[in-house]
Amino acid sequence: MDVTVEPARTLRGTITVPGDKSISHRAAMLGTIARGTTVISNFLWADDCRSTLSCLRALGAEILERDGSLVVHGRGPRLQEPAGVLDAGNSGTTARLLSGILAGQPFAAEITGDESLRTRPMERVAEPLRAMGAGVDTRGGRLPLRVRGGSLQGITYAPPVPSAQVKSAVLLAGLFAGGETTVIEQVPTRDHTERMLEVFGAPVTARPGQVSVRRSPLQAVPVSIPGDISSAAFVLAAAAVLPGSEVTVTEVGLNPTRTGVLDVLRAMGADVTVRQDDVWSGEPVGTITVRGGELRGTSITGSLTARVLDELPVLCVVATAAAGTTEVADAAELRVKESDRIGALAEALRSLGGEAEERPDGLIVYGSRLRGGRVSSRGDHRLAMALAIAGLLASGPVIVDASEAVEVSFPGFFRTLAALTGAGVSG
Ligand code: S3P
Repeated sequence: MDVTVEPARTLRGTITVPGDKSISHRAAMLGTIARGTTVISNFLWADDCRSTLSCLRALGAEILERDGSLVVHGRGPRLQEPAGVLDAGNSGTTARLLSGILAGQPFAAEITGDESLRTRPMERVAEPLRAMGAGVDTRGGRLPLRVRGGSLQGITYAPPVPSAQVKSAVLLAGLFAGGETTVIEQVPTRDHTERMLEVFGAPVTARPGQVSVRRSPLQAVPVSIPGDISSAAFVLAAAAVLPGSEVTVTEVGLNPTRTGVLDVLRAMGADVTVRQDDVWSGEPVGTITVRGGELRGTSITGSLTARVLDELPVLCVVATAAAGTTEVADAAELRVKESDRIGALAEALRSLGGEAEERPDGLIVYGSRLRGGRVSSRGDHRLAMALAIAGLLASGPVIVDASEAVEVSFPGFFRTLAALTGAGVSG
């Protein structure tokens, strides 16, 4: 479905955003392999997380919704052999994390996904899981992926590309393995799995650059999921660059592996205040306020790139409204997300009248007012939302196709945008 977003003068208001996607997947998966009943509040009811739930149900989990919360009746470590192929839909996290759990099961199971997910690299999880003793076959390194679980042995593994999904797959397999399983990281990635494993009672030892786990049963606990900072990022980044704006997001996750977007906005000159209010299920939670002003270009490279990878589409859009040049490097992983986000962004920004150059591992974006026009989201949720933000900043309306992709991670995105801008969004 096409959506038309009109230019906005300001964004103003106080909002919450839907639950964190990464944490929602993990809570449902750990609840399934725990003993007892896990009640999860503020679970993200979005397409990607529904894909995880349907796979877990196919593996014998009894999962229901009660008063808006997700209730997972844990099976303990032993799952049920699925009757058919597991469908991870559009969700890389579902496919990769689940393969770690399947590696420890006494049966074979196959995972597939939608057209986008079937193009994404899966050898990165297959390799360490094989080293632990599972049989894993892929179709040329892609889905479908077939896992024959077995008796696993812990390994020490340093993933060749920084990836929280690979780290998590190995740690989850480590719950079923003899000895200790260790993942070593040169560049830190989001650490939700290790935090949640601890909350469920697993013996996790984490120190900078290294995390280990041992075989152990998990025990159900109530879980509260913070708002997703990657969803908040769309409106916060837009507010930062529109003078007169003021947006506050409450009850949002502040895990330091995820707050790179705030560091980048500050480096661009934005007025950002952050207050931690609480800790929910091992995750810091708080309030972020951004006030709009004039921004300048910045450089996003190295470990900062890894902390801000999912937010790069909206940051590149906002960079068009900043003075000077923004350089993004060390972001080759962006090419193997739900779409080739480097190619797609450069093309979309240029077609809206912006100036952007594509590099093998990033982009150069020049400050220049976008004109507006029609652009393709390529069915990628983060591109659809970033390009909608382009509509707020441009001099004319932006029409984004396949806008229903926002349901993958941020149901209600367009309603939130309309509420903060006081109209100007129609679909
Ligand atoms: C995720 C990890 C990241 C991120 C993705 C979600 C996760 O991918 O881009 O949207 O939930 O573990 P990597 O595995 O590349 O770090």
